[in-house]
Amino acid sequence: MGIKENIEEIRQSLQQELSSMSDIKQLEEARQKVLGKKGTLTALLRSMGSLSPEERPAAGQLINAGREMISAMLDARSAALKAVEREAKLRRDAIDVTEPRDLPRVGVPHPCTLALNEVLSALTGLGFDIVEGPEIELDHYNFELLNLPKNHPARDAQDTFYVDDNIVLRTHTSPVQARTMLSRKPPIRIACPGRVFRADEIDATHSPVFHQIEGLVIDKDVNMGDLKGTLDALFKKLYGEDMETRFRPSFFPFTEPSAEVDLTCISCRGKGCRMCKGTGWIEVLGCGMVNPKVLEMCGIDPTVYSGFAFGIGLERITMLRYGIKDLRLLYEGDERFLRQFR
Ligand code: DAH
Repeated sequence: MGIKENIEEIRQSLQQELSSMSDIKQLEEARQKVLGKKGTLTALLRSMGSLSPEERPAAGQLINAGREMISAMLDARSAALKAVEREAKLRRDAIDVTEPRDLPRVGVPHPCTLALNEVLSALTGLGFDIVEGPEIELDHYNFELLNLPKNHPARDAQDTFYVDDNIVLRTHTSPVQARTMLSRKPPIRIACPGRVFRADEIDATHSPVFHQIEGLVIDKDVNMGDLKGTLDALFKKLYGEDMETRFRPSFFPFTEPSAEVDLTCISCRGKGCRMCKGTGWIEVLGCGMVNPKVLEMCGIDPTVYSGFAFGIGLERITMLRYGIKDLRLLYEGDERFLRQFR
């Protein structure tokens, strides 16, 4: 048999093999069988050694041409097989993006969180830093430094949970004022949100656990006009330009003078409704000029500096903001209620 026939035989049997094969591994085995070290075409190349020098060039050319042709055949089949495998893999891994899925149930922010974020972003916009303090507090910060010495009658106004003689669950966020005055130098401008505790009944307007947002500003020449201006700016920012504040004289041991502040009723915008009992005003916070005694106890010279403070009830603001009539709804965690405030 001549070289040509030999090559043709190899080509034919390879072609047959290729047409019936279905994966790349088989194809590579076939490639070895022909072109590998012990392959049939390689054997043919080796057999050239037995030819005469005159016959060799022509034989070499034939074998090389055959080798190229066979390589091309193998490569073409390989590409086709790879395409088929890829196609199959794509089909196997396909994801139906339209298939309905069970989505995990995601919670929603609590209405108090929403209202708190609004207040804090308004206050930070006015240049306040946000500062936090401990919920389990020393009597010293919760009372003493705020001008509420032991046996002071004003302590009665706050039904305190005592841990022991010196430790309480903080009854307000005001101790953060004292902590901050002791740790920072004026000018001070801080807002302190947090949970507070009172041994109170639970009803539509009372809870033993609730939240306050404390504000404190200390600088040179701070006066009551700055307090009023700041609160006006805060509530206009929160609820609209038509909001006004009204100050009524009050008493807190840590401020002098002290005031309770009413806000234009958010619900009727001042016209008078059930929520404001026809007055057009709603009480929202206590405030005042920081008592010089407090400044002094907290290491700030009251002949150089003055300041104001205020304490906002977060639940109260939240209820006004969303027209919620019963405080207890805020603590029950009923999803049907909570999901309304997105
Ligand atoms: N700490 C007071 C309370 O819980 C609220 C309060 C009143 C805070 C006047 C203040 C303030 O900072 O100046 O009833």
